Amino acid sequence: MTDSDWPIVGVAGARGVVGGVFCSILADAGLPAENLRAYGHLEGNTLEYRGSSVKVNFLTDDSARELDVLFLAVDGVQSKEIMAGPGARIPLVVDNSSAFRLADGVPLIVPEANAHAARNRTGNLIANPNCTTAAAVVALAPIRDLAGLASVDLASYQAVSGAGRKGLDAFEAERGTEHRDRAADSPFHGRIADSVVPQIDVLDEHGWTGEENKIHAELRKILELPSLDVAATTVRVAVHTGHSVALHIRTERDTTVADLERVLRNAPGLEYRPADGSERHPMPLDIEGRDPVLVGRLRAIPGRDRGFALWVSSDNLRKGAALNAIQSAAAADPERFGRLLPPLR
Ligand SMILES: NC(=O)c1ccc[n+]([C@@H]2O[C@H](COP(=O)([O-])OP(=O)(O)OC[C@H]3O[C@@H](n4cnc5c(N)ncnc54)[C@H](OP(=O)(O)O)[C@@H]3O)[C@@H](O)[C@H]2O)c1
Repeated sequence: MTDSDWPIVGVAGARGVVGGVFCSILADAGLPAENLRAYGHLEGNTLEYRGSSVKVNFLTDDSARELDVLFLAVDGVQSKEIMAGPGARIPLVVDNSSAFRLADGVPLIVPEANAHAARNRTGNLIANPNCTTAAAVVALAPIRDLAGLASVDLASYQAVSGAGRKGLDAFEAERGTEHRDRAADSPFHGRIADSVVPQIDVLDEHGWTGEENKIHAELRKILELPSLDVAATTVRVAVHTGHSVALHIRTERDTTVADLERVLRNAPGLEYRPADGSERHPMPLDIEGRDPVLVGRLRAIPGRDRGFALWVSSDNLRKGAALNAIQSAAAADPERFGRLLPPLR
């Protein structure tokens, strides 16, 4: 029996790190257990959901037929397989992997910047951006709207949970040990405990990492600025959850710190912290488990025309993944999926 007032919602990869956050947000929204379908790579596991035990199944063509929406929290290979098979039968799918982010005709959505692209989609698939991209976009979109954007240079400080279960396991295995080697099966380029690792994903032939190339292309697509000048250095840091980004931007038109502060204070999806230190600057510990992107340390760059610096911190598992995906489904079809969003934390 399902509750017909609620959509039937599937989460593929429900036992993964992002999948778990999907389930917790859906539970906060009140989605009944009978309306949740959990999928994994094996049959037979279960997960706890609102006091019930939900069975984790393998997603098949038959089981896909009843779904109203499917959230994919699996890797890109699995996402492609699912979209070539059962995913094609589902009215709306939101994919968290990088498999379709740059595909023509697939909207890549951060609702604060381009909700219209979710509403006007022509297919059944929406892509969710990289977690660092999502955080940066929430701060950059209102600046784009105020004064245009000529360039974005950024350095990221990315938490280990951004690398999923394997990342968390490696961090836990290394913590409290003193050797300098990385844990067996670590997804990181070097030991992450007590360290920072300046490579995320593989290097291309020019020395840029996959993560840096994703951010470059995804910022351009979401902000609808196809020739935006972007340079990113992405770094893994010994933080459990919460990505931070140092942004150095140039606007296209003249503006002031006061005007930027005014728009950032009023922009959706973010919480502004004054740069004078009168409140704590944005930090991962203050954003873990919360929904807004924290924005602070806004200042003009001396000697650089239209140059400004700012700092953001965001929960990579919520705004960087599950929350943004549910918000995108709600933006695509507010009537059907709007109620999947609980009050903001
Ligand atoms: N972590 C982040 O901050 C973050 C942010 C943005 C985007 N993403 C993206 O989100 C996706 C999930 O990331 P994660 O961090 O949650 O990874 P994870 O913790 O490693 O979880 C991956 C999940 O995929 C499941 N899976 C594997 N094959 C499957 C299949 N055939 N059908 C259904 N499920 C299958 C696994 O299921 P079992 O439990 O059954 O083994 C596992 O639960 C990835 O594409 C990642 O790039 C992650």
